[in-house]
Amino acid sequence: MGRSEEKQWMPDEVDPTGPNLARVYNAIGGGTHTFGADREMANQLLTVQPELAYWVRTNRAFLARSARFVFESGIRQVLDVGAGLLAPGSVHDIAAQVAPDARVLYLDLDPVVVAQANEILRDQPLVSAFRGDLRNPAEVVRLATEAGLDFTRPVAILLVAVLHFVQDSDDPEGILARLRDAVPAGSYVVISHASRPPQLTDAGVRAEKDYSERTAPVALRTREQVERLFEGWDLLEPGLVQPPFWRPEPEDLVEPADVERAKGTPAWVGVAIKR
Ligand SMILES: C[S@@+](CC[C@H](N)C(=O)[O-])C[C@H]1O[C@@H](n2cnc3c(N)ncnc32)[C@H](O)[C@@H]1O
Repeated sequence: MGRSEEKQWMPDEVDPTGPNLARVYNAIGGGTHTFGADREMANQLLTVQPELAYWVRTNRAFLARSARFVFESGIRQVLDVGAGLLAPGSVHDIAAQVAPDARVLYLDLDPVVVAQANEILRDQPLVSAFRGDLRNPAEVVRLATEAGLDFTRPVAILLVAVLHFVQDSDDPEGILARLRDAVPAGSYVVISHASRPPQLTDAGVRAEKDYSERTAPVALRTREQVERLFEGWDLLEPGLVQPPFWRPEPEDLVEPADVERAKGTPAWVGVAIKR
């Protein structure tokens, strides 16, 4: 696919001919901020793992429920790291519903994400997006401070479906510790982290490898490894669970089949507070 398909918000330096992490995720979730190469890779992944669309949906639903939860707990500053392309149910949408006075900062490594967000958020003074790298938490805090976050007041840091792009060599536990040290008591951290699907077929392994090689390497982690990321934070009820089981809505998980399906979700999520 060529530049003719390019959206106006796309930065000039971005090449639309290869798949892009944020856009592939957007395509799997049914989004429209995609190019042919993204949709092709999304289709390849969905062919070997049709449940992927459900897993993305449950992750987005967790993101919305956890954002609502932190706002309802009184938080008025959210730093959404690895925010991805904005889509219905992004944090500023939830803020508009329950905390219109909240400040929301989106941070992402990908200039495509930042450009799309700035285009969408043009008329929203309390919401902004900027480019930054989670692997450099000091820089993340500096950028967020410059962008208007007040680190003397509680902040919620969202790390939703991003930490599995941070390799062990980049010390994810250390990153979490430094973010924890930067925020005052009463701050929250929200984590959603992919784990290994239980029955990965040979074709699934090949598709995962291809995805990793063409977008970004993925570091799937076990429940125990994800739990260690919360060291020094107080995990709130219901603890570390698969996304559909984190404070579901009354209409969720009603049928036994829904519960069975939810149990197959290869991800661990939790919300914790700094005491
Ligand atoms: C799978 S998307 C998740 C989007 C959104 N948080 C959600 O859960 O719907 C992962 C995002 O993390 C971003 N990302 C990956 N590595 C990152 C890093 N080191 N620092 C900041 N963002 C990163 C990617 O560019 C992508 O937009």
